[in-house]
Amino acid sequence: MTSNHSLHWWQRATVYQIYPRSFQDSDGDGVGDLRGIIRRLDYLNDGTPDSLGVDAIWLCPFYRSPMADFGYDVADYRDVDPLFGTLDDFDELLAGAHERGIKVIIDWVPNHSSNRHPWFEESRSSKDNPKRHWYVWADPSREGGPPNNWRSAFTREGAAWTLDETTGQYYLHSFLAAQPDLNWDNPEVEAAMHDVLRFWLDRGVDGFRMDVVHKIGKDPFLRDNPRDRDEAFIKSTAMRHDEDWPSVHERLRRIRQVLEEYDGERAGVGEVYLLNQRRLVEYVNSTRQLHLAHNFAFLHQPWEAGAFHQAIREFQSLSTPGAWAAWFLENHDHDRIPTRYGGGDPEGIGRRRARVAALLLMTLRGTPFIYQGGELGLPNSPIPADRVVDVDGRDPVRTPMPWEPPGANGVTAAAGFSAGKPWLPLDPRAEELAVSRQREDPDSVLNLYRRLIRLRREEPVLQTGDILLLEGTEGLLMYLRSLEHRRFLVLLNFTSEEVEFRGHEVHVTGRGHRSMPLGLPTTLWTGTGTVRAATDLALDDEVVDTRLLRIGPDAGLIIELDRS
Ligand code: NOJ
Repeated sequence: MTSNHSLHWWQRATVYQIYPRSFQDSDGDGVGDLRGIIRRLDYLNDGTPDSLGVDAIWLCPFYRSPMADFGYDVADYRDVDPLFGTLDDFDELLAGAHERGIKVIIDWVPNHSSNRHPWFEESRSSKDNPKRHWYVWADPSREGGPPNNWRSAFTREGAAWTLDETTGQYYLHSFLAAQPDLNWDNPEVEAAMHDVLRFWLDRGVDGFRMDVVHKIGKDPFLRDNPRDRDEAFIKSTAMRHDEDWPSVHERLRRIRQVLEEYDGERAGVGEVYLLNQRRLVEYVNSTRQLHLAHNFAFLHQPWEAGAFHQAIREFQSLSTPGAWAAWFLENHDHDRIPTRYGGGDPEGIGRRRARVAALLLMTLRGTPFIYQGGELGLPNSPIPADRVVDVDGRDPVRTPMPWEPPGANGVTAAAGFSAGKPWLPLDPRAEELAVSRQREDPDSVLNLYRRLIRLRREEPVLQTGDILLLEGTEGLLMYLRSLEHRRFLVLLNFTSEEVEFRGHEVHVTGRGHRSMPLGLPTTLWTGTGTVRAATDLALDDEVVDTRLLRIGPDAGLIIELDRS
């Protein structure tokens, strides 16, 4: 069995995603910035049990950008946008994080640049410009109109092609027309993007979150996508031509080589947005490509124990022993947990489920990612029509972090986020959800996360331990984490009814009821354990009997089993 010491930092870490625009503003312009993040580093980890205790941060883009897609349209890969600060601020942020033992992962956007990037401005200027083939240009189809049937990922955008009057050709954009796709079939582009990695590696970053990295391999013949949406886009059973093309894998191997030119295990974390886990694991199954790939199949599960059980099991059965999972349930593109799983009641059921989700993320085998505000149980925020700024409806999950109750005094007018008017409105529940309020309440979502992050950090069994999925009780997601003689039983009630757990009724998935004892400690059905963390704080440290245990509605427990 792997010992904890042989785990890499990116396997042990709890990673916290920062959306810089909305984290902390330091200059009163209403937009978060790098100096704001520096100010809040102690909140993330000051080395004491009072802080959140995360081990790494992932910073969403802060590069020079016209902000058509809020930074995912990069105009200069090697500079900080003045809105966010300067390169010196970045260096200071990096140093401050490292002093606190926090690793820094930055976003790298390899699939597309801004249309205002000098590369694109040159490329579009004439058909014989030396940078023409740095982007994907094609003639209109025979009938006129776009060269093929590829669509932008943003529904409102429609076709993934825009005609450029200057040369009469179309250019490809998998997202906005302001985000032309770079042509990765051109070795010059690949080399230039490797140099971007080196620029930041030289500065000392610990890794990259690679934006839609499965899109850097596309059919060079630009053939149509299959017409069956369901097969091509949802189940990923039919081959798409605009992403996940076999060439992506050799490109990832070369990216890995760049990371390995540096010491200190620089990590590559892919946004591999494929809902078919069979395809996803291709990106992490060898140790020559990505270190981690966000698992979107997991994020898209309905709130049912069986669905999550199945998704986790599928990843396990498809992945090789060296592959490592990256679990997450929120990011800056998707609904907040209390809204998504709250069944119309984000502040009631939704918040309780956010606590169950916290137990889930922090106890699975794999690296957990928490999106800023997730640790507060923030729901989606209402956005008045005249404040909508995003092209794809994502404003509700990008509202500013509430640090203090708003309006407590002049300074906290914007909940401690900014001295000015925030670029997006604060959540109306900021008063109750603010960090300072939650800090004082031992039973808050924030304090639950703080305890769980600490437990995971202190207990190697939760990091490297084996995981055995259990079944036999409807409504519960159940698994056992074990390392040497330590065994942690995780019981998560996905229903809003009380559920009875009877130790002797459960069995290991795939091994059948009869062979129950295989791999299971006898204490599971005959004995006792101690609650190490629970959605209900009152249960912490309770001694429980695993022969018959009642798990409350929308509740969960992490039990350390007594030795048998
Ligand atoms: C995925 C990012 O997470 C999203 O915010 C962005 O709009 C697209 N990639 C395009 O870069």
